[in-house]
Amino acid sequence: MFDNRYGTGQSTIDGILRATNAMLAGRTVVVAGFGYCGRGLAERARGMGARVVVTEVDPVKALDAVMQGYTVTTMDEAAPLGDVFVTVTGNRDVVRAEHLERMRDGAILANSGHFDLEIDLVALDRMAVEVNHGVREQADEYVFGDGRRVLLLAEGRLVNLGAAEGHPAAVMDMSFAVQALTTEWLARNHADLEPGVAEVPEETDTEVARLELAELGVGIDVLTPDQDAYLRSWRP
Ligand SMILES: NC(=O)c1ccc[n+]([C@@H]2O[C@H](COP(=O)([O-])OP(=O)(O)OC[C@H]3O[C@@H](n4cnc5c(N)ncnc54)[C@H](O)[C@@H]3O)[C@@H](O)[C@H]2O)c1
Repeated sequence: MFDNRYGTGQSTIDGILRATNAMLAGRTVVVAGFGYCGRGLAERARGMGARVVVTEVDPVKALDAVMQGYTVTTMDEAAPLGDVFVTVTGNRDVVRAEHLERMRDGAILANSGHFDLEIDLVALDRMAVEVNHGVREQADEYVFGDGRRVLLLAEGRLVNLGAAEGHPAAVMDMSFAVQALTTEWLARNHADLEPGVAEVPEETDTEVARLELAELGVGIDVLTPDQDAYLRSWRP
């Protein structure tokens, strides 16, 4: 909820900018996948003035993106529109030959999702008549037969790790705090647990959020005794 959304969102943009020094304002950024990472990335790209196009396969996520004001369409339709394409789906072959064939000259391809499978690199290699490795650090230029070029960042691997520094420590600390406290909770409570997947106790999430808010200097309201009693009166 936090490191995927805010960490990947920010560090993916960081990787793209370090590898390209591209201007995002006014450009079209295609975000494939509107999960936690995709949502964060779309928000950050929009914040930098990009026109953001989202592709999805899940109707609920797609509707969420539409209602957040993004253009949602298929990768087929998005292919000729995008200046920058970023995959964050956890899936394979999200950008394929038929999409590469329709992309603009100069399109930038990056993946911040699942290994190096999200962009079909075999197809990219097959289609290229020339590959210029390292035109910038972490950027390889693929030239197609019709003269169009696309720029592949970080070899199609996670661009925020390949071309930047990954998530800032200031968001990973929350994830690690949850993991550390959950490990402590497991050590104390394992005897009462059945084998299987157990949920992180709600109090652990709440405690980490409380500590982070305190660190950020943010105060929040506290339930009055009457409010607490009122909410408990109908909660199971
Ligand atoms: N770069 C990083 O540092 C980093 C950090 C966290 C997670 N990840 C990776 O990013 C990926 C996404 O993570 P998440 O937490 O957002 O997952 P998620 O499940 O919340 O979101 C993935 C979204 O992609 C959509 N999707 C699947 N196939 C698609 C396709 N062909 N076209 C368009 N959309 C498609 C799904 O419907 C889903 O909404 C995972 O592979 C995860 O491991 C990377």
